[in-house]
Amino acid sequence: MYLDNSATTKISSEVLEEMLPYLKDEFGNPSTLYSVGRESKKALEQARQRIADSINAKKDEIIFTSGGSESDNLAIKGVAFKLQKKGKHIISSEIEHPAVKETLHFLESLDFKVTYLPVYDNGIIKIEDLKEAITPETILITIMHGNNEIGTLQPIEEIGKIAHENNILFHTDAVQTFGKVEVDVEKQNIDLLSVSSHKINGPKGVGAIYIKKGVRLVPLIHGGGQERGIRSGTENVAGIVGFGKAAELACSQLDEHAEKLSKIRDEIIEKVLDTIPESYLNGDRDQRLPNVINFRFKAIEGESLILLLDSKGYQTSTGSACSSKTLEASPVLTALGLDPVDVHGSLRISLAPESDVFDVDEFVEAIAQSVERLRKMSPLWNNELDYNAIVGRK
Ligand SMILES: Cc1ncc(COP(=O)(O)O)c(C=O)c1O
Repeated sequence: MYLDNSATTKISSEVLEEMLPYLKDEFGNPSTLYSVGRESKKALEQARQRIADSINAKKDEIIFTSGGSESDNLAIKGVAFKLQKKGKHIISSEIEHPAVKETLHFLESLDFKVTYLPVYDNGIIKIEDLKEAITPETILITIMHGNNEIGTLQPIEEIGKIAHENNILFHTDAVQTFGKVEVDVEKQNIDLLSVSSHKINGPKGVGAIYIKKGVRLVPLIHGGGQERGIRSGTENVAGIVGFGKAAELACSQLDEHAEKLSKIRDEIIEKVLDTIPESYLNGDRDQRLPNVINFRFKAIEGESLILLLDSKGYQTSTGSACSSKTLEASPVLTALGLDPVDVHGSLRISLAPESDVFDVDEFVEAIAQSVERLRKMSPLWNNELDYNAIVGRK
């Protein structure tokens, strides 16, 4: 049972079917004038329209990229380089994806100043903090819509409103929310938005950036002037066609899927918290994605729990796939104010619409048995080590 859909998703058969002709006979370069090229161009523009429709944008406000990371880089560096004469201050949050965080670190090395808003124990920024952080030098606010590790949703509509009242651009990373909860660039006051295909049953290596009409940025990739000169390079036509189809499918069933998934999510949360002692939910109980749960279990090492659950047939994760190779404590969980030992005892479960085929009771039982087994071997749990001393509590 694959329960790591925040990391990536399985390509759907409808998506694959729609892509196949563009990997075979319809191979033309969309920038050429003859018929096979025109066919590719038509498919490209249909996909652009589908992405635009799914976020209430106009077709020419969508630029295709290689994925969420590139879209984040383009939005943030593109605006920073364009507006640096106006100011060099950017506001973000402490729990951004590395695609945003590392881009900001890079800009800091070029003398930009970044304020990282705290997210408190519920994983959500406070609007008062945002208002206080704004200076006459602020050119951009980049705050993610939904968090990839803990699933919390930020109040983006209000953030966008404040940005505009202060004549500041607002970018949001909607990679985890697109196709899962409503994304409406008009209503939510968004100037720039990043989305990715492989989180919504589309192919990997494709994404898009929404750039509101009138917003100017410096391109990162120069070349033949494709994508209105904002992102040169021959477009990945088959991938983009797949992304368009995946977006259409996800957005047309959004409410239905959200309702179904949040029911399973809530059942898992309730049963785990009820049956497993010293288990906790990371992040706000309600302001969260319908498909993401993040627990922590006292005196448990997350990686061992993942391996035990895998042996029982459940594929889960400790959090972000991007940092799973390092033993560095998750910066997202650390930002919630958790002790380093607690941070290592986390488990992320991320559902997909096809996840309703599994038995929640059996799954919760598998977690409970695994936690119990690990705790039997844990010197921390068995009071052979002083927990408070380890976490530095008096
Ligand atoms: C919130 C968020 N932003 C950006 C990305 C990067 O997207 P991509 O893998 O398409 O580069 C991810 C992927 O995990 C993500 O979860």
